[in-house]
Amino acid sequence: MRVLVVGSGGREHALCWALAASPLLTKLYCAPGNPGIGELAECVKIGTTDIAELVAFAQEHAIDLVVPGPEAPLSAGIADAMEDAAIACCGPTRDAARLESSKSFTKQICDEAGIPTAAWERFEDAEAARAFVQRRGTPLVVKADGLAAGKGVVVATTEDEALAAIDAFMEEGTLGEAGRAVVIEECLLGEEVSVFALCDGTNAIPLGAAQDHKRVGDGDTGPNTGGMGAYSPVPALSPEAEQTVMDRVIRPALEAMAARGTPFRGILFAGLMLTAEGIKLIEFNVRFGDPECQVLLPRLKSDLLAALLAACDGELAQFDLRWHDTAALAVVLAARGYPAAPERGSAIRGLGAASAVPGALVFHAGTALDPAGQLVAAGGRVLTVCGTGADLHAARAAAYAAVDRIDWPEGFCRRDIGWRALGG
Ligand code: AMP
Ligand code: GLY
Repeated sequence: MRVLVVGSGGREHALCWALAASPLLTKLYCAPGNPGIGELAECVKIGTTDIAELVAFAQEHAIDLVVPGPEAPLSAGIADAMEDAAIACCGPTRDAARLESSKSFTKQICDEAGIPTAAWERFEDAEAARAFVQRRGTPLVVKADGLAAGKGVVVATTEDEALAAIDAFMEEGTLGEAGRAVVIEECLLGEEVSVFALCDGTNAIPLGAAQDHKRVGDGDTGPNTGGMGAYSPVPALSPEAEQTVMDRVIRPALEAMAARGTPFRGILFAGLMLTAEGIKLIEFNVRFGDPECQVLLPRLKSDLLAALLAACDGELAQFDLRWHDTAALAVVLAARGYPAAPERGSAIRGLGAASAVPGALVFHAGTALDPAGQLVAAGGRVLTVCGTGADLHAARAAAYAAVDRIDWPEGFCRRDIGWRALGG
């Protein structure tokens, strides 16, 4: 099997790492990849949304399977374009990717399929949105309807905050078209967890659960980020609750998508709140999370490549995944200044020593090689250091032991990843 992974982050490094272990693999490419991925795959200089170029490359190199990592190529139509070229692609079509790219679409699917979620309303008119806020009172959550790279959600505890978000998104257009319409919803209280499933259009099989750490600072302080760390499994989510998510959230969504003629294939990521009234869906994403992927795949015992192929072939009903009875915990190392203005160019050393820690895996994200061949920081989130072990305590010990061997004074990480499960 000749496989092309699309992306350049820690998630794609983990995907390449898992695919490289498959006995079915004969050749692995990654576009555009990064220096860590370059140790496992041949990196190709094509951007993740250059769909025509990706299709041409896949045709020229007889690719059997394309695995998109991030959302952007999916909403740009990579799965549709590969399908037209008769190349298997383990990801949703552009229409099915609306489960992530449109908040109001997801809410309609929830209503159609009876998926528990926060009560909501959509507004195209700022005056009507303001009147709703004044009528309902806070707390409320104001969301740009379109994709906004994590900047489109305001959890407003006061009326002023809610009104300011409406002004910024709808009147000032701070998010461009993505914010011209907003969804305003009930504020859910509880613990957040993410549940992942592999889908073939009709069937879904669980890929495990993880908990992310979105704020940049220890104690969940500071601005939101793409994610500063994750762990799996999640003790707060019992196996029965995970089954409930499959039965009440994932499978109904698949049925609703199929009934609309836009079946969902690929990774479905349910962001959930464990509320006092039960599990409620916050959002869907149509891909693996980053850094959640880096803690799910090290626990997978089965062949990832075989599973992704089965998803493309509509054969998941007969497919069973096996898992190691281990835990994984990942710590993201980011460049000083992240998320606002990460500093680039500083030298990173000690990755060999870090990887030598038993149970540790080092995944690259925003790294590059300078002209002298020295590894340097080239992005906001730069490395994901994942520890694995018999339980979350052992996984955390392995992760931080490896972090402490990395010589990169210009980088930083959170020191409390896993605090909900393990304490500070
Ligand atoms: P989203 O982009 O929809 O994932 O929202 C980003 C973050 O905002 C989520 O991870 C939650 O922490 C928070 N959030 C979104 N919707 C709600 C809600 N209805 N109630 C409480 N928090 C929410
Ligand atoms: N870590 C959150 C995400 O990938 O969306």
